[in-house]
Parts: sequence; C-alpha cells; structure tokens
Amino acid sequence: MVMADQRIDVDPNIHLTRDITTAGTRDFDSDTTSIASRVARGRIENGRRYQAFKENVYWSPSDEQQFEAFELGHMVCVVLDYNQPNRLFAAPIDNDPQHILDIGTGRGCWAIDVADQFPNATVRGVDLFPPPINWVPPNCLFEVDDVQKPWTWKEPFDLIHIRQLLGSFTPDEWRDLYQQCFENLVPGGWVEQMEFDVRVRSDDASLPPNSVLARWGDTFISCAARAGRPLTTQETMRASIESVGFVDVHERLYKVPLGPWPKDQLLKEVGLLNLEHWKAGLEGNAMWLLTKFGAPHPWTKDEVELYLVEARKDLKNSHIHGYGYARRVWARKPRDDHMVQTNIKLERSP
Ligand SMILES: C[S@@+](CC[C@H](N)C(=O)[O-])C[C@H]1O[C@@H](n2cnc3c(N)ncnc32)[C@H](O)[C@@H]1O
Repeated sequence: MVMADQRIDVDPNIHLTRDITTAGTRDFDSDTTSIASRVARGRIENGRRYQAFKENVYWSPSDEQQFEAFELGHMVCVVLDYNQPNRLFAAPIDNDPQHILDIGTGRGCWAIDVADQFPNATVRGVDLFPPPINWVPPNCLFEVDDVQKPWTWKEPFDLIHIRQLLGSFTPDEWRDLYQQCFENLVPGGWVEQMEFDVRVRSDDASLPPNSVLARWGDTFISCAARAGRPLTTQETMRASIESVGFVDVHERLYKVPLGPWPKDQLLKEVGLLNLEHWKAGLEGNAMWLLTKFGAPHPWTKDEVELYLVEARKDLKNSHIHGYGYARRVWARKPRDDHMVQTNIKLERSP
C-alpha cells in the first residue's frame, strides 16, 4: 500500500481510449421487499428516489443508480485493503463476535460480507431505506430506522461500523451518535469508521486548477456547510469519537487514485473502480446539495446537469492523475475497570 505522504507513480503507458461506462443499472427488486409502504416507495425528486423515512435532510438518493455507486465504493475499500489481514475492518475484535452493527448500511454489501466472515455472529444493517437485496446470509438482518433515535437493540455489540456517512449529521448529532455507539458496545468493543475526502488532488499539476473536478470538493463542502451537515467528516470524526470516551484510537490514511493511471497494479485497480464509483454516483452526489444549497442561489436541475457534463469530461481525461484521501479510524470502549473514570464524560449534548 502506498503511504499517504508518498507520491503515486504514473503508468507511462496508460491511455483511456474508451469510456469504461458502468454496466447497466440493476432493476430494483421491489417484489422481494415486503414493506409495501411509503417508506419502501421513497420520494421522487428531480428524477431520483430519496428515502421518505425522515424529513428532507439527507443528501443521497436511495435508488438503483446510487446503490450501484455504493457497491462500487465497497469494492474500492476492499481492494484498497487487499494486503491487510482483514479487508473489511481493522479493529482487532475477538475471534468469535456475537453482535455486529453497520450504521447507514446502504446497499448492505459490508454487512453481508461480514456476516459471511462470521457465521456465528448476528450482523445488523440499519438504514433509512431498505436495501435492494433478495438473498442475505441467515445471520444478517436489515432494519429500516433512524439511528438518531434512541436505540432499542437489546444485545450490546462487539463492533459498530460506519462508512460514508459524511454529510448525514450536524456535529452535535455526530457526537450523540458516537455516544449511542459507546453505550451499546460491550466493554472492550470497537467502533470503526471510514470516510472519504470529497476533494480531488494531483501531485503532478495534471489537474487544471479551474476544472470542475479541481473545484468539485470545495463546491460541495460549501453546500453541505450551508445545509449544516458538513462533508468534512473524515477530518472531524477522530476527535468526536475520542470526545465521548473511546480509547486506543487508531487511524489509517489512504491515497485513493481516481482513474487507472497508477503504475502499481493494485492502485491501478483501485483507480479504475474508483472512476466507476464516481461515474455511478456523480449525479446522485450532486443533485440534492446543488438544488437545495447551491451558490449563489439553489441551482435548477438543468444547471446541475450542465455542470455534470463538464465533470464527466474531466473524469474521462486520462491526462489527469487525480486522487483523494480516505481515512479509517477505529477505537475501543474501555474495559470495565476503566469505565468509572470514563462515565464522567458521558453527558449527552442538549
Ligand atoms: C453514502 S451511503 C453509504 C452506504 C454504506 N455505508 C456504504 O459504505 O456503502 C450513506 C447511507 O446512510 C444512510 N443514512 C443517513 N442518515 C441515516 C440515519 N439517520 N439513520 C440511518 N441511516 C442513515 C443513508 O440512507 C445512506 O444509505
């Protein structure tokens, strides 16, 4: 794995001669879900389906196209950690975990893979929208709920996993969420979170500073700041996790190439998957934030689509050697003998 402060060598032979378009989107298996309700139907806006479980505060669609992006994002993470002993998480949990929770499970890929890895554990995935799945391992359960509400699970978890929930919560809501994690872990249990930085960078000045891609991250970070739910979660999560009493905090910073330009074969694979991840998620990542919180005024759907045409041109430009950072943080709840001291910190924000 390339260290986060190292430069990624460019493959001199790379030519992106064709548009490696994502394979056709999968139909939503609506006949496999029994939740015949407003929640399962969602809410259509600007041609995309959004969850209808809670008021209009969350940016990502929950539809076939976005689930495709979530799946590709999962593959990016797994291949990034291809050389790690465990490609799904880094927390050193016991060999025989009983209960694992995936918060904001999306398409449910992580929860399903972890359920396969630990057949004796019960793995729960919770989300505002039901995942489009027609088969899950028997030890994997999906639930539709808002994790900001008080949790009602009876058994404490050995591991709670969070990935790509950037822009979901205000800073106070994040703190409350980590506190609910803390309270619902076994002593010595682990919380783990992986988040991406939405800014694209290049080390060799191949990213034109005025391109849509170069300004993409700051544009959306500003929209989300206006929405009150920052996209900079990867920068803030560690301190917030520590603030509720977690100890033994670890962090791994990744450089994630965008496109198959790296010379290194593993990074080339990551870059290719990440390019598909970007292309599948481009409209879904942009539409809600720009049409609600775009500057200097909320954008129209047509304005967003024109902007995305330019973004797609940048993504197809194989002369750009772009990458972004991703960060993984994992931390432990103290074991019983340390709890007395830690409980002092457990006052929830008002
Ligand atoms: C960008 S997706 C990431 C999905 C998955 N974790 C992954 O890495 O592929 C974030 C998910 O969090 C869910 N989410 C956002 N706010 C939530 C909340 N308050 N309660 C439960 N799920 C939430 C969204 O519905 C969405 O499916």
